[in-house]
Amino acid sequence: MSSPSAPTATAGPASPLRPHGSWWTVGAAALLAGAALASALWISAHLHPDPALHATALFLHLASMVLGFGAVLVVDYYALLWLTSRCSLAEALTTAGRLHAPVWAGLAGLVVTGAVLHPDLDSSLTRTKLALVLLLTLNGLQARVLTHRLTRHSAPALPPRLLAWGAVTATLSQLCWWGAVTIGFLNTHH
Ligand code: HEM
Repeated sequence: MSSPSAPTATAGPASPLRPHGSWWTVGAAALLAGAALASALWISAHLHPDPALHATALFLHLASMVLGFGAVLVVDYYALLWLTSRCSLAEALTTAGRLHAPVWAGLAGLVVTGAVLHPDLDSSLTRTKLALVLLLTLNGLQARVLTHRLTRHSAPALPPRLLAWGAVTATLSQLCWWGAVTIGFLNTHH
């Protein structure tokens, strides 16, 4: 998710953290995600796609971007609607929950197809892009804890700490996604 939450929270009484809402689960998922990215890069160094495969992978790379980043933009749009009192917190959180699958599927597709595109790991731009991808993945994982805390919150107003957490999460997510898009574009055209 991105942003903070609102007066009209869904939640009832505070419940214990579910598995996907615990820091242990986030830590384990972060290790898995880092290992998956490292494996994709290792495999990419051994792949030499022919032009047809490269073109197909580039198309699927862009399609994955539409899926993943598109879903992220919808989640952030709902957060903005909530911030401007045009939808309830419950609605924004439900939307975020429903869009988890396309966000993660898009990101996984970007990593797999990106590996087939044979990234130039000696390029500092490419390394920066990969660091952004890792950062946005970790940010997305910790956002699960944030979403869970927001869902549990039943007070009429949210504590500033949760609001700040939401704002930082949303800003970081946007910076990383736009940074990766920009570097991908620059790499292709230079
Ligand atoms: C948030 C994740 C990502 C986004 C938003 C993204 C975005 C893009 C974009 C916009 C392009 C340019 C396509 C074009 O102009 O035709 C591109 C190309 C590319 N991307 Fe990504 N990408 C992401 C993740 C990755 C990952 C994880 C890898 C490597 C494992 C990767 C490797 C590449 C490569 C090799 C190219 C082609 C550059 C070239 O033609 O030399 N990308 N990406």
